[in-house]
Amino acid sequence: MELKINNASVEVTAPQDEPLLWVLRDELGLTGTKFGCGIGICGSCTVHVDGVATRSCITPISSVVDKAITTIEGLSTTDENGEEVLHPVQQAFIDEQVPQCSWCMSGQMMTASAFLQQNPSPSEEEIVDAMSNNYCRCGCYVRIKAAVARVAKAEVSA
Ligand code: FES
Ligand code: FES
Repeated sequence: MELKINNASVEVTAPQDEPLLWVLRDELGLTGTKFGCGIGICGSCTVHVDGVATRSCITPISSVVDKAITTIEGLSTTDENGEEVLHPVQQAFIDEQVPQCSWCMSGQMMTASAFLQQNPSPSEEEIVDAMSNNYCRCGCYVRIKAAVARVAKAEVSA
């Protein structure tokens, strides 16, 4: 089966009902996408499918054939000199020193980047709502909100 991942076509051998998460991690070595709950609740496995934040642990690969899959490894871009250019969300998570253990962070950034693509000028309430289904066991929620707000240039409370 052929999948389109991070702007490249890749051939995978996993059965068609295999969750995308396991294909990314085990077959393709894209381990930036994390396993948390495995049942679609925590958000740590979030990737983009045609630009939509999607939980890869409950997404069979048969459902994403011919769709553009982006993982955290594909969120940044490359400039004309071949240098990596971080996505504004990635840069904001660094600037706000968001991560603690980091386990949830790729899912947080994939959710935030898809959200900001759809809503570039959100209110604080919309930011909180958009990020509320991505769990962080380290409790970095205030800094996550600050980072998303930094990209959106939104005023938020601490
Ligand atoms: S591992 Fe997919 S939502 Fe938790
Ligand atoms: S930074 Fe540790 S779970 Fe979020």
